[in-house]
Amino acid sequence: MNKRLLMTPGPTPIPPSVLRALSQPIIHHRTPEFKALFSSCADDLKPIFATEQPVLMLSSSGTGAMEASITNFTRRGDTIITVAAGKFGQRWGAIGRAYGLNVVELTVEWGHAVTVQAVADALTAHPEAVGVYFQSSETATATTHPVQAIAALCRTRANTLCVVDGITAVGVQPLAMDEWGVDIVLSGSQKAFMLPPGLAFIAASEKAWAQAASADHPRFYFDLPAERAKQAGGQTVWTSPVGLIQGLRAVLDIMIENGGLAGLHAHHDRLARATQAGVQALGLTLFSQAPAWSCTAVRAPDAIGAGPIIQGLNDRGIKVAGGQDHVKGKIFRIGHLGWFDGKDILTTLASLESVLLSLGHEFEQGASITACSAVLSA
Ligand SMILES: Cc1ncc(COP(=O)(O)O)c(C=O)c1O
Repeated sequence: MNKRLLMTPGPTPIPPSVLRALSQPIIHHRTPEFKALFSSCADDLKPIFATEQPVLMLSSSGTGAMEASITNFTRRGDTIITVAAGKFGQRWGAIGRAYGLNVVELTVEWGHAVTVQAVADALTAHPEAVGVYFQSSETATATTHPVQAIAALCRTRANTLCVVDGITAVGVQPLAMDEWGVDIVLSGSQKAFMLPPGLAFIAASEKAWAQAASADHPRFYFDLPAERAKQAGGQTVWTSPVGLIQGLRAVLDIMIENGGLAGLHAHHDRLARATQAGVQALGLTLFSQAPAWSCTAVRAPDAIGAGPIIQGLNDRGIKVAGGQDHVKGKIFRIGHLGWFDGKDILTTLASLESVLLSLGHEFEQGASITACSAVLSA
């Protein structure tokens, strides 16, 4: 009997009260009962997204909301600036090119955050750019980009939107949509929202909605102005993912009970620092120069590589994520967004010590537990 621990940056574990909510009898989506449920979720999502704007819910994984934020807010042939600092930043460029946009891609070394100067220079070179599309937390490298400063640059331009993929940032690390002037924030259910995959979220500023009026891409399923109108009445244009919305109600209750957005930030900051301290105490180095609060990317010792470490953890019942593309085999990523606590981190570190010992890596045994515990008990 092996108990499995899912320590990946998505999907993330689902709390028992959410599992119970997910297993409730389904209700019909065109009923007053559903409208009340949907509207209560929509209301309670706003503070989690740090916005007064409606947070729209879409039936798709997070990439659907990424695509919708291009098709609904740009015109054919428009120029956008994207930040390619990892797999998910590269996706912005791929979607933009698929819709015939002129994509100015800022390529950043993996593990680094884009500099504000690089974005400012790109905006100066391309004053026609209608948006800067990037991540708050680039999950592929566990790196945080400087959202607030980039939003400030976009704010000074009438026609340039600041579009942030917050898929592993909303409910995790600071992303003050209205206060910072971020125009679009999107997220997905299988991350800090502690739900199965299949539900995406997107919120847009008045500036973005004004730009949406002239968007001219062919679109059908992801028609955000139509969704905005329909969701104001507690319904979605298409059949709603009823089960996920029932689960979302339980998630939002947990979030509210645990101090709302401020509580979520404190929780993830603490787990991130505890994880970082633990792995560094074993002589391992962090891959990111600007570590995110969602997950921790760790460089594997060259002599060992990431593969045997990931496998060793898996053999001990712990699933962590590997690196992607050119960092595959070089890094491993420990997720700590959503339903995790200090015990999960301590268990993972203890197992990591066991794996490293078996692989001949030299370190002081117990050091990761001491370092992690010091952060957790501070
Ligand atoms: C930052 C980021 N953006 C986009 C995605 C893609 O989302 P999905 O796989 O839900 O389509 C992910 C998924 O891990 C992500 O972490």
